[in-house]
Amino acid sequence: MDLGIKGKRVLVTASSKGIGFATARRFLEEGAIVTISSHNAESLNAAYEKLKDIGQVYKIIADLNEPTEVSELVKGSYEKMGGLDVTVYVTGSPKPGNVLELSDADWRAGFNLLLLSAVIVVRESAKLMKSGGRIILSTSMTLKQPIDNLDLSNVIRLSLAGLIKSASRELGSRGILINGVMPGWTLTERVNQLAKDRAKREGKTEEQVISEIVREVPLRRIGLPEEVANVILFLSSSLSTYVTGALIPVDGGIIRGTL
Ligand SMILES: NC(=O)c1ccc[n+]([C@@H]2O[C@H](COP(=O)([O-])OP(=O)(O)OC[C@H]3O[C@@H](n4cnc5c(N)ncnc54)[C@H](OP(=O)(O)O)[C@@H]3O)[C@@H](O)[C@H]2O)c1
Repeated sequence: MDLGIKGKRVLVTASSKGIGFATARRFLEEGAIVTISSHNAESLNAAYEKLKDIGQVYKIIADLNEPTEVSELVKGSYEKMGGLDVTVYVTGSPKPGNVLELSDADWRAGFNLLLLSAVIVVRESAKLMKSGGRIILSTSMTLKQPIDNLDLSNVIRLSLAGLIKSASRELGSRGILINGVMPGWTLTERVNQLAKDRAKREGKTEEQVISEIVREVPLRRIGLPEEVANVILFLSSSLSTYVTGALIPVDGGIIRGTL
């Protein structure tokens, strides 16, 4: 099936690993031109080496904690690709911790990483999308349902729902569609890290922690990064021309809320 993605110029942020990397790879497989990015030169180069034989790919180092680097990233990807049709925003993971433990500095860092970077990516992408485009923000199931000890995510990511709705109203008349996905537990380095952290806190093994997580998921397994990437692809494709301002869970059913 032609998804209308071939030849599209796509920026995927935080894409040296995990969900971002899987998304960049899926776009390349569909014939898009892709810019990948992360804040670590070594892992970004490793990702670039894995992707360069699949299609036309560029790389830019940028720290999503640094506002100037975020806007330079969007502009740089536009220059490298000769335009920008799709921006996929993924970010790094915030520090674990609860409201009683996290410091003011942790909250400021969480705000920069999880919210300010998203605002800048949306604003700068929209400026450059002269003849329409798509913006997809990858957030988290914590937007609908808190996860204990991930309070930076539980609190700050909620505002991305407001960002997506507000921007969809501003950008619709310019043919720019903006949507979000809320991944549930997804098999990446991040999950291994969280399992390790929780196992230590709760005096359990990592295997116990993972099997407790899986028990909570109606589909009885942890998702794959490609399963998140495929929904992002749908939201960038010619199959979703009347979808904007939406937030779609990709969570195996773990979010319990009805609405
Ligand atoms: N996996 C899950 O179960 C899950 C579920 C819901 C939401 N999420 C969220 O989805 C996002 C991606 O998660 P993931 O599981 O794919 O994580 P991951 O496998 O650990 O990958 C994280 C990516 O973010 C990049 N990154 C980290 N900090 C960065 C920074 N300051 N500036 C630029 N890039 C940065 C990393 O690149 P470098 O290290 O090369 O810089 C890497 O490419 C995170 O925000 C996570 O909280 C994950």
